[in-house]
Amino acid sequence: MLNDPIQAGNLTLKNRLVMPPMATEKSAGGTVSDALVRYYAEMSQGGYLGLIVLEHCYVSPEGKASPNQVSVAEDACIEPLRRIADAVHRNGVPLIAQISHAGSAAPENLTGTRPIAPSEVMNANTLFSRIVRLSLPREMTQDDIDRLIARFADAAARIQKAGFDGVEVHSAHGYLLGQFYSPLTNRRTDQYTGGTLEGRTKLQTQIIEAVRETCGAGFLISLRWGACDYADGGAALDEVPAAARIFAGAGADLISISGNMCGYLRSGHSEQGWFAELSEAVKKSADVPVLLTGGITEKDAAEKLLAEGKADLIGVGRALLKNRKLPEAWMK
Ligand SMILES: Cc1cc2nc3c(=O)[nH]c(=O)nc-3n(C[C@H](O)[C@H](O)[C@H](O)COP(=O)(O)O)c2cc1C
Repeated sequence: MLNDPIQAGNLTLKNRLVMPPMATEKSAGGTVSDALVRYYAEMSQGGYLGLIVLEHCYVSPEGKASPNQVSVAEDACIEPLRRIADAVHRNGVPLIAQISHAGSAAPENLTGTRPIAPSEVMNANTLFSRIVRLSLPREMTQDDIDRLIARFADAAARIQKAGFDGVEVHSAHGYLLGQFYSPLTNRRTDQYTGGTLEGRTKLQTQIIEAVRETCGAGFLISLRWGACDYADGGAALDEVPAAARIFAGAGADLISISGNMCGYLRSGHSEQGWFAELSEAVKKSADVPVLLTGGITEKDAAEKLLAEGKADLIGVGRALLKNRKLPEAWMK
């Protein structure tokens, strides 16, 4: 099954093996560097992957997560990004870029401004606070939210102009859109309220619709969705079917499953595909291809997850970094 082609939006992927987004810190203060172009050229070599998702790129300066995160916040990034798109396409692999805003996970000492978030609540991804010093965020106004939606749409337009096949909207791992999805960090009472699933999914829905409006039908829109917090009072498994239907209804062409406030790991779990219960729930409830990532290191395990109907596509992250010949070994 791993070798079977699959349709995602208007894009036909030649197989189901995906390189998920992995931040490299190889940009030069946000600008695409030679090292970054070489890295993606190397990862796509031989054309064995079905899809590559370029690491998280920030849509506006106050949403920056780390010093050498790639910028898609201004038009000057278009031509440099085109070098990556050309290098990967020359190897015959489709490429989308992940677009993100870190919200309360943006370190103030990096951005020079107080972070923004759905509510004045500290980030609930405890991993972040072990890596960087985070501040209490300011609650976003409706104006902030309107500007943010425009920022995502503008970033997607730049990525399209740079020759990419699509974008991935980052709503996972406790970054800004994940903060809206989690009842732990969303205490709002307006249309984005943390008290209802409709409120918690509203912003992602509006961003998907704005990107579609800007980039048109042929441009792939993936949603990286941290569908569960695995924490008391947080986003839960039983909400997945209804939320998946909302995201698919908004026009997401692909749903890429990961964790939210737990990050990309799941405490107490080491089985290959530790988020399989989430991707399976999406598959059963919404008519959209589902990508599962997390702990997958062996081809047989990947094939089994596909055969058991847990997902339509398989993401392999760290195992691919360790062994860059993995796609060739699995897919040849
Ligand atoms: C170094 C590193 C950087 C990562 N950067 C991102 C990122 O930019 N965006 C994202 O959504 N996930 C990111 N992730 C999570 C991966 O996409 C993936 O979900 C995670 O590595 C688990 O899959 P694996 O067990 O196959 O490695 C990153 C993971 C690692 C190890």
